[in-house]
Amino acid sequence: MTRALLLFAACSLWGQGPNEANYDESKVGSYTLPDPLKMADGRPVKDAGMWRNARRPEILRLFEQQVYGRSAPAPKKLEYEVISTQSGVLGGVATRRLVTIWPAGKSPAPAIHVLLYLPANAKGKVPVFLGMNFNGNFAIANDPGVPLSKSWMRTGDHKATEKNRGIEAARWQVEKVLSRGYAVAAIYYGDIFPDHNDGWKDSIIPHISKGKPAPDDWNAIGAWAYGLSRAMDYIEKDKDLDAKHVAVWGHSRLGKTALWAGALDERFAMVISNDSGEGGAALARRNFGETVNRINTSFPHWFTGNFKQYNQRVNDLPVDQHMLLALVAPRLLYVASAEEDKWADPKGEFLAAKAAEPVYKLLGKEGLPAAEWPGIHQPAHGTIGYHIRAGKHDVTAYDWEQFLNFADKHWKK
Ligand code: GCU
Repeated sequence: MTRALLLFAACSLWGQGPNEANYDESKVGSYTLPDPLKMADGRPVKDAGMWRNARRPEILRLFEQQVYGRSAPAPKKLEYEVISTQSGVLGGVATRRLVTIWPAGKSPAPAIHVLLYLPANAKGKVPVFLGMNFNGNFAIANDPGVPLSKSWMRTGDHKATEKNRGIEAARWQVEKVLSRGYAVAAIYYGDIFPDHNDGWKDSIIPHISKGKPAPDDWNAIGAWAYGLSRAMDYIEKDKDLDAKHVAVWGHSRLGKTALWAGALDERFAMVISNDSGEGGAALARRNFGETVNRINTSFPHWFTGNFKQYNQRVNDLPVDQHMLLALVAPRLLYVASAEEDKWADPKGEFLAAKAAEPVYKLLGKEGLPAAEWPGIHQPAHGTIGYHIRAGKHDVTAYDWEQFLNFADKHWKK
């Protein structure tokens, strides 16, 4: 038995180890969420102006200082190159465009590769679903024309192989999204920050922020979110794309990232979290599934150094995740959960979305039209959308059907 396994076994026997998680609703306990509509000094947020000019920046600062870290400002001028445009791909339904972005200036600094699919029959500027993938751009569809990634891979010997081509196709549903009139944009998270404890040194961060990291400096999630914003910089330059209608989406750790990107960058008109759980859409104070302590222990490279202070005292956090969701207001927000994904605390994801609603209401928006946690396969679509589907931690055709219906409802009036 390995040391890690022994530790795990011992901790499980004692019932108090790092891997222990509560899945019993009666043991969640009581908690009080910070009020998004009350300033840190206690003053109530009276109107949209006070939210915009005082409370929103205050909450954003708190998430930077305590949770995700301070990111670098956007580069003064985006360095990028359109590598190729090829029509008639994916069996004729798409035009593929490959673009390279150099976030810290041209090589040898790191490059972010953008893969774009436009509907073949597109007329005018096309709205976009922008997301990040776990296995390289060549993994999101069965398209032999996408080069293998040269960046670090999470599996095998950390090098891309042909056998991973298209392995995320079910999660991306590219043909379905195109058939509904949307473009797909993808970037690979490994181009930006290799997802392991030592990833920092091979990430974009040391190329952009010089010197040793401060306790409130950005880390993997901050860097990935930065990558999404640079892809958005490019989308703004592409005449075929409708930069006013860009949905940023992500699954799991990349769902946490999509939320943070959407909070920081108000150019994203829609923000979609799929099964993002702890550090994403799920309330941190609700003791169900993964905890702050657990996530900081397993993934010390995701959040800012300061976040670790809350491992044993989550109730002292000056924010909770409903306030991250509220930072998306008045823009479109979608939170998706999966029934069997207890680790991500589906109910905590719903409650956070619901607790963001007062901010939407203050800004004159509908919020989330569900008084109670909806049943399985009963999506609720207001300005905030939510559904919980049957099944596991994943992105499925059902999830996409809801995201597309939500986008159609708001964007195809
Ligand atoms: C782990 C982690 C989660 C994360 C997930 C993922 O399960 O604990 O916080 O969302 O990985 O990204 O797949």
